[in-house]
Amino acid sequence: MNTPYYLYREEVIERQIQQVHAFFSGSVYRCYFAVKSNANPVLLRYLHERGFGMDVISQGEWYAAHLAGVKGAEMIWNGNVKKEEEMSFFLDDKVGLVNIDSFREIEQWGRIHQTHHTTPSLFIRINPSIDAGTHPYISTGNKAHKFGIGTERLDEALDLAKSYSLRIDGLHAHIGSQITDPEILAKAYQEIILLSEAYGFPAVNLGGGWGIPYMDGNSLDLNTLRQLTLPYLTKLPVLCELGRYIVAQAGSYVVKVEDVRFIDQQHVMVITDGGMHHFIRPALYQAKHTFTVTQPSQAGFYQLSIMGRLCESGDILASGIDMVPEIGSLLYIHQAGAYGFSMASRYNGFPLPGEYLQKKSGETVCIRQPEEYNWSGTGGEHYGD
Ligand code: LLP
Repeated sequence: MNTPYYLYREEVIERQIQQVHAFFSGSVYRCYFAVKSNANPVLLRYLHERGFGMDVISQGEWYAAHLAGVKGAEMIWNGNVKKEEEMSFFLDDKVGLVNIDSFREIEQWGRIHQTHHTTPSLFIRINPSIDAGTHPYISTGNKAHKFGIGTERLDEALDLAKSYSLRIDGLHAHIGSQITDPEILAKAYQEIILLSEAYGFPAVNLGGGWGIPYMDGNSLDLNTLRQLTLPYLTKLPVLCELGRYIVAQAGSYVVKVEDVRFIDQQHVMVITDGGMHHFIRPALYQAKHTFTVTQPSQAGFYQLSIMGRLCESGDILASGIDMVPEIGSLLYIHQAGAYGFSMASRYNGFPLPGEYLQKKSGETVCIRQPEEYNWSGTGGEHYGD
């Protein structure tokens, strides 16, 4: 296994799945996995075999789910924009459910209904105007955000659908990601469930967003969330679209220490063979991930900055107090199973890393070969042809 690579642990995924089932027990529910958090087809197959449908955004994510053996009928198609040619594609595969994001999209499906006389099951994404209390880039549920239709305009949206004789089967809300305050999620669940009940919808989609502990240790207390929401969750069938909660803690981004630079008495910069091209969360959201150093060499603890190898000062992977690692040792950056590989790029011309799965038996298998140098994707050899 050449570094850098992603390593996932089956045991942790299994534990998380059990927590999800425990949370919803007593309600009628169906879980969909948010493929944007991790699109590895082997993991998707694993989740599908354990009862998950797939929440996909694009034909690319559809393909990953398709490789995992998931049929369109078991997918939800989400997205801010749905282009006509994509709509034809998803219709051809008989996608099961679509979350409508805007008035324009109601019109688009309305026209399809008039010409094809069939549509997937359509839910309207509402924007309940609730502050998710999370990083602004991953907060989606208030008026300043581009997602969904404001709750106060729901009647208008339903009238528009009616004018096309379009049937709406339910409401959907996803107010943000990495939410750790159970009161906030409870408020959103309560609001959308009561609204769905008032309008007589047969089911409701609660989105994703469950927070996990990063370096600060804050995490969503599911017991509290359950206590706060159980009376609502049993009112009608619920769908959810969880990503991070299922896979984040199962994954590590594993890099090799290539250089150790002593900046001053306390501060050491550790340069690795990885970087923000593969793992962008710390650079993009100032996310603080825990890490483990193998083979510490210097006694005494230092403030370590774990850096990547790219030509960017923001190319940071993690930081914290630890022993200084030996050059050549491995460094595991944790909580990297969600929005890690799926956000990786080939910036600076580096290929994408491999992905490995450590099974419960202890055996580790390759679930995506590391990419070879891909000259056509990195340079300009066709430029000007
Ligand atoms: N449903 C919808 C409509 C979504 O937009 C998302 C995530 C999910 C479900 C899954 O949310 P989760 O359970 O994973 O929180 N790249 C960012 C996260 C972006 C989330 C985008 N939408 C990060 O690394 O934190």
